[in-house]
Amino acid sequence: MNLSSLQYARRFDQVSGSAIREIFKVIAQPGMISFAGGNPSLAALPDEKAAELSSLVLKENGKAILQYGATEGYPALIESLKAWIPAHLGFEAPAVLPVTGSTQAMDLLCKAMINPGDRIIVEDPSFLGNLQCMKLYEAELVPVDSQEDGLDVCHLERLIQAQKSKMIYTIPTFQNPTGKTLSLAKRKIIAELACQYGVLVAEDDPYRDLRYRGEALPPIKSFDSEGWVVYFGSFSKIISPGLRVGFMAGDAGILRKCTIGKQSSDVHTANLTQAIVDQFLRQDLLPDHIARISRDYAAQCDAMLEELARFPAGVSYTRPEGGLFIWVELPERLNAKDLLQQAIARKVAFVPGTHFYCGGEHENTLRLNFSASTLDQIHEGMTILRKLIEESL
Ligand SMILES: Cc1ncc(COP(=O)(O)O)c(C=O)c1O
Repeated sequence: MNLSSLQYARRFDQVSGSAIREIFKVIAQPGMISFAGGNPSLAALPDEKAAELSSLVLKENGKAILQYGATEGYPALIESLKAWIPAHLGFEAPAVLPVTGSTQAMDLLCKAMINPGDRIIVEDPSFLGNLQCMKLYEAELVPVDSQEDGLDVCHLERLIQAQKSKMIYTIPTFQNPTGKTLSLAKRKIIAELACQYGVLVAEDDPYRDLRYRGEALPPIKSFDSEGWVVYFGSFSKIISPGLRVGFMAGDAGILRKCTIGKQSSDVHTANLTQAIVDQFLRQDLLPDHIARISRDYAAQCDAMLEELARFPAGVSYTRPEGGLFIWVELPERLNAKDLLQQAIARKVAFVPGTHFYCGGEHENTLRLNFSASTLDQIHEGMTILRKLIEESL
């Protein structure tokens, strides 16, 4: 029998990754200026320091690192995180679980909490990778309106009141894809609503340390008195995505369930990369490293904003204070997918915004990344985009 009768699991029915994957094939072409991914710049990746720390930890604790480790995490990293989280993020975490990138935090929280049909309230637009994860657990995604200062908390409360929701998924700082940041007042309100209505909050905060302007805001988790907020941290954007180290911080009971779920996912996050991240924290290497990469990213962000200021009237865009992305809205009659085809022919790539919305549409939006391109590439690529838009108006 050939494979034509093969039936995939129903959980894949709502999921298609194809459109974005096609774009990522294109950006691999030589000479392409890519505003499409969310990668750190090559200059930001601390390869020499990682080599030095890798050698150090293997010399000091090589046998334990090369042996199977605990699902609960590499002990030294847990110790460092327990000191770093209150000092750096401003909240006490009853429990911490190192994970294989914060991508795994979303997967484990859904594994622990979500039954098919459970409702999860999500920002619209939101991070595609985690939208896909929630769909794979057969959650019903409920979009909440977005405003300049993050999600609309009045709409959020109406949604929670209208029908029981299990979880709220939010990216409060320099959101992917919009670059928007949730205001302080709204952070407090979300923590209060979670407690009042008994809804979990998955607070996904991988960009918070990449701040180029303005004051840092406390996480939603710091206003959480009862444990309804589970915080996801990641070292992908501030050290390296290839190390695959992130963490969950929150209620011990919830994290225990996630730990049990992790046993069958990957047994544990690689000891070696946890040990490298531990050294970054233990030796207090992050402040200088983040200051250095932020200086470059700030200049890249400014260069892109400077180019956007020359775009024709009717094109609007966010002015993020940090992170890796700028969100652009074209006049309604323009279609970002068509623009992408023309741009690719001129060796420029980006991601059309429609892919980040639960229900698609919003064809006139696009996401631009500035971290992975040089200043020259940003000026050149943005000039090409501007001319293409001018021609289509
Ligand atoms: C909002 C958001 N969450 C999570 C991730 C994944 O991060 P990690 O590499 O830690 O899995 C990304 C990556 O782009 C992201 O944008």
